[in-house]
Amino acid sequence: MAGDGTADTQSAPLWWQAGVIYQVYPRSFQDTDGDGVGDLAGILARLDYLAELGIDAVWISPIYPSPMADFGYDVADHAAIHPLFGTLADFDALVAAAHERGLRIILDFVPNHTSDQHPWFVQSRAGRDNPRRDWYLWRDPAPDGGPPNNWLSEFGGSAWEFDAATGQYYYHAFLKAQPDLNWRHPDVVAAMHAVLRFWLERGVDGFRIDALWHVIKDARFRDNPPNPDFHAGMNPHARLSQLYTGDRPEVMEVIAGLRALVDSYGGRVLIGEAYLPLDRIAAYYGKNGDGVHLPFNFTLLSAPWTVAALAPLIAAYEAALPQGGWPNWVLSNHDRPRVAGRLGPDQARVAAMLLLTLRGTPTLYYGDEIGMTQVAIPPERVQDPFEKNVPGLGLGRDGARTPMQWDDGPFAGFSTVEPWLPLAPDHCEVNVKVQQREAGSMLTLTRALLALRRSHGAIATGAWQPLAATGDLLAYLREGDGERLLVALNLGGEPLSAVLAQLPAGRILLSTLCDRVGERVDGALDLRPDEGVVVALAG
Ligand code: NOJ
Repeated sequence: MAGDGTADTQSAPLWWQAGVIYQVYPRSFQDTDGDGVGDLAGILARLDYLAELGIDAVWISPIYPSPMADFGYDVADHAAIHPLFGTLADFDALVAAAHERGLRIILDFVPNHTSDQHPWFVQSRAGRDNPRRDWYLWRDPAPDGGPPNNWLSEFGGSAWEFDAATGQYYYHAFLKAQPDLNWRHPDVVAAMHAVLRFWLERGVDGFRIDALWHVIKDARFRDNPPNPDFHAGMNPHARLSQLYTGDRPEVMEVIAGLRALVDSYGGRVLIGEAYLPLDRIAAYYGKNGDGVHLPFNFTLLSAPWTVAALAPLIAAYEAALPQGGWPNWVLSNHDRPRVAGRLGPDQARVAAMLLLTLRGTPTLYYGDEIGMTQVAIPPERVQDPFEKNVPGLGLGRDGARTPMQWDDGPFAGFSTVEPWLPLAPDHCEVNVKVQQREAGSMLTLTRALLALRRSHGAIATGAWQPLAATGDLLAYLREGDGERLLVALNLGGEPLSAVLAQLPAGRILLSTLCDRVGERVDGALDLRPDEGVVVALAG
């Protein structure tokens, strides 16, 4: 470790640098009690699958008591487990079983807001003189009786909700059932630090911090200016820039406090959610390592899938990283369309190779390892409050949250009853059981990629160097542990030939089509449509 708390190039990599994070959306992973919703016992039952897959850490989206207005991101009690998911004893058993298998557990920490059913908010709204009033953001109406300013909710409409009983508005960056906490209040900071300690003492290995860039808002509550880049079809929330509601300078102090607390336990990780431009993402590493260890890099979620877009994006991200800042990559998550839905099943294999061979910690979304696709949700089955509030713009998140496809049984091995969200229509063909038997399946590929990372330090933690970005060819080198590997990806549907005259000969370690292993490459490399390869170069 360097003095700043980040890894330096001399020391052994930390677990979260060399490792791969796997995101479990707990409602949809495995149901064991027959209510159509996944649970902690289900995650425990699938730990052997995850260990065999070859991931290192499991990030579990919120499992706390919640009215489920936003499916757990509306926390009503930070220090307990929702009965839907199980009990604290189930959680302890899960942590112990994960650790026995060498897997880490990362929890979702939701600091920006609570549920409106949380006792803190119930007290806060009880009266203007309640001691918890200022734990949330209350403002008087504007002179016309309307909201105090123009701030908009991410999930549609004004971000202000009027409370008739006390004559003031409260601020909610998301649903009105998710009032924002006031992180300028020292008691809020202390209470939320206590929440972190509660879980750290139970042995969790880190936190993914929800909506981190939202946590502090402008102290003067100034109006947000219009967003000049707004156009029809975008989330209506984007009509305004987020100048005064997000990424405020004071958020760095909040983060430094969280980081100091977590570091005092040793060996844990903090991952921050922030949908921001690259230069701002870089700022969340903090000064002298007092930021989060991994500010999520979401650039691949929305980048056009072309070499012309991806090559400069990767280079710009690498260039933006501060000294000691460790990179990370995300292809899919519970808020964005599935990668196989965006790119199709063939290119999704290339995307998996990209995710798992770039420099930095990858986050793999559950189901992507078998190529689960975006599922069309019939209107009567829509669950997502975002889609309900802002319909018709394709913003709904249910299609990326459908049940894990374990086998070809009636409910895909996920449950014994109709699940809370529809199963993908292809679940009889696309599932773990079928793919475990197929030598060329997406699951076989994902396992092979994860095994390759584990056996080649050059991929897990080595240096990265761009090599070629022409036409549909994206190629780069990974170097470390006395090895040099070439990654060559065909992002298109036509065959291509890459000239590698300047490189030594090598042998193919892996193709996205799961063949060609051991094939010699010398001077030129032919790639089939939608094929990527990793080549070990001689010398
Ligand atoms: C980001 C989470 O990923 C998303 O699912 C949630 O709705 C919002 N934050 C609000 O917590």
